[in-house]
Amino acid sequence: MKIRILKLDTVDSTNTEALKHARNGADEGLCIIARQQTAGRGRLGRTWVSEKDAGLYFSIVLRPKIEQAFFPLITLAAGIAVFDTLVSYGLEPDIKWVNDVMVGEKKISGILAETTESNFGSAVVLGIGINLNSANFPQELTDSATSLESEGVRIDLNELVKNLSGQIASRYELIHSSAGRREIIEEWKNRSTYFEGKHVRVKMGGEEIVGVTAGLEPNGALRLSVNGHERIIHTGDVENLRVSKSL
Ligand code: BTN
Repeated sequence: MKIRILKLDTVDSTNTEALKHARNGADEGLCIIARQQTAGRGRLGRTWVSEKDAGLYFSIVLRPKIEQAFFPLITLAAGIAVFDTLVSYGLEPDIKWVNDVMVGEKKISGILAETTESNFGSAVVLGIGINLNSANFPQELTDSATSLESEGVRIDLNELVKNLSGQIASRYELIHSSAGRREIIEEWKNRSTYFEGKHVRVKMGGEEIVGVTAGLEPNGALRLSVNGHERIIHTGDVENLRVSKSL
């Protein structure tokens, strides 16, 4: 995949911008980055706080040639890419299913994958936010989020973008073969303490279930053991119960 970077100053959302480019026929590998987002979006309809120069706001256009059922693996692959990028800066991250990258139980990066269809075919836009500094975090984020600056890491933004896009390109290749897809699950397992044996609460719409994680399905869905029964979770918010108890 050939990476092409388009830098913008202010945009509503780099994902929205990348979706527009995808619908207009952009090739895969186009990356949109912005210094600021006025309507940054998170998962499940949430807002992604996007103050000027306080985060990396990054979206890449992908055109995967695989069954839609495997699309969730793109998110897992992105989590691995962010994880390895952070490790290269000396951090020790964790990945909370499905796509929150954490440092010391605080969120440092989030991932939002969205799909679109047009005459040019289907596309996936993979949006990644990485907190660069926490100076202007709103009150509600100060306990639950961290940033590279708070973790004592200084970065050169161009270098960060280069590292991250390179990591994404190499992980993304893997989703196109069944051996590669198994490798993504294996790599995710090796990086996440949430893979198995973690006591969690999962919030899915109005429903909340408590259970113990028991690995991932081949498409990246989470297996949860609930009172001895297995539940397969396709979407939801996972909370580490051991941490919330000790707070
Ligand atoms: C989440 O954890 O809820 C996902 C957050 C994703 C944020 C990124 S920032 C770049 C891209 N543009 C957006 O509007 N959202 C994603």
